[in-house]
Amino acid sequence: MTTQGSGSSAAIPVFADVDTGVDDAMALVYLLASPDAALVGIAATAGNVGVDQVCRNTLGLLELCGVRGIPVSRGADGPIASALRTAEDTHGPEGLGYARMPSSGSTVTTYDAAEAWVRAARAHPGELVGIAVGPLTNLALALRAEPALPTLLRRLVIMGGAFDYRGNTTAVAEWNVSVDPEAAAEVFTAWSGSGLTPPTVLGLNLTEHIALTPTLLTRLGAAAQSPSSPMSVLDDPGTRSAAANPLIRVLEDALRFYFEFHFYQGEGYLAHLHDPLAAAVALDPDLVECRPTTVAVELTGTLTRGMTIADWSGRWGRPSNALVGIGVDANVFFERFIARVGLFARRLG
Ligand code: BDR
Ligand code: CA
Repeated sequence: MTTQGSGSSAAIPVFADVDTGVDDAMALVYLLASPDAALVGIAATAGNVGVDQVCRNTLGLLELCGVRGIPVSRGADGPIASALRTAEDTHGPEGLGYARMPSSGSTVTTYDAAEAWVRAARAHPGELVGIAVGPLTNLALALRAEPALPTLLRRLVIMGGAFDYRGNTTAVAEWNVSVDPEAAAEVFTAWSGSGLTPPTVLGLNLTEHIALTPTLLTRLGAAAQSPSSPMSVLDDPGTRSAAANPLIRVLEDALRFYFEFHFYQGEGYLAHLHDPLAAAVALDPDLVECRPTTVAVELTGTLTRGMTIADWSGRWGRPSNALVGIGVDANVFFERFIARVGLFARRLG
C-alpha cells in the first residue's frame, strides 16, 4: 500500500468530485498515476449510480490501486431540486461495467462531500486544483457554505455541458448538467464575478474526440506488461478479461461494458473518455484550446432543460464565467494516458 494525499513538494494538490462510473474510475487512476498530482480528497456524487455505490466503487478502486490515506466523502443523496436519475445502462449495474471491485476496509469521512471541498480549498489556499466530473451537486452546496471558494482555488476543471453540439441525455443536454441543472447554474453564477479565474469547461463537443478503441486499450495492456488480444465487436458480450495485471483486468472488464454501450448507441465499438480528459487538463491546461465566454444553464425549457448555452457573441453583456474547450489533440492525450497508467499498472502487477 502507498500512502497518498501529500505527494512530493512539486506535486499539484488536486481534489476530485466524481460519480464513479467507468470513465470517472479511469480519471482517478490517471491522477493516481501522475507524479505531478497529489490527490488530497475525493467527493462522491450521486449520478451514474447512487451515492453509496459511488462510495463503494471509489474506495474499492483505491484499494485495488494500493493507495491509502486519500479521504473519500459521501455527497448528497440526489440533486438540489429534482429526482435522481442514474445511468446503469451506460456504466453497468454497479457503475463499473463487468468489473468486480475488491471491498475496502476503509470508510468515508465523518464530514460530507460539500464540507470536504471547503476543507481542501482552505487547506491549500490558491493552490488547489478542483476537478468535477459528475453532477455538480456537491460543489454547489460547497459554494453555499463558502462563497469565497472560487477565490481559494487555483483552477477548476469541469466535465459538463455540450457547446454547439448535441446532448447525450436529451437532444441538447449532457449527462452531468442534465442530472442537476440547478447545481450547474449555481456553479456558473458563482464564477460570474470579475477578477475570478473562470473554470475550464469540457463539454461533449470536445470529450467525444477522446475515443478509446480496442487497439489503444491493447497498447495500455502492453505498456503495463500485461498483454491481451484486442477486444472485438464479434466477442460475446460480457467476455471477461484474461489480463494478468489486476488493474488492467478491472479496466478491461469495465471498458468492455462501455464499448458495448457505445456500440448499441450507434457510435462504434469504442468508448468516450470524457472524465480522463478533464483529469489530464487539470494537470496540464495546455492540452486543450479554450475560449472565454459566458455560460448559462437552461432550467425551464420543456425541451431544453439542462442545455448549456455559451454567449459567444457577448449579447448578454455579462463577464466571462467559463473557458470552454474548443480544441484537443486526442493523440497527445492518449500517449500520455497510456504512458502514465501503463507504468502505474506495471508497478501494481
Ligand atoms: C459524463 O456523464 C457520465 O456518464 C460520465 O461519467 C461523464 O462524466 C459524460 O456526459
Ligand atoms: Ca462522471
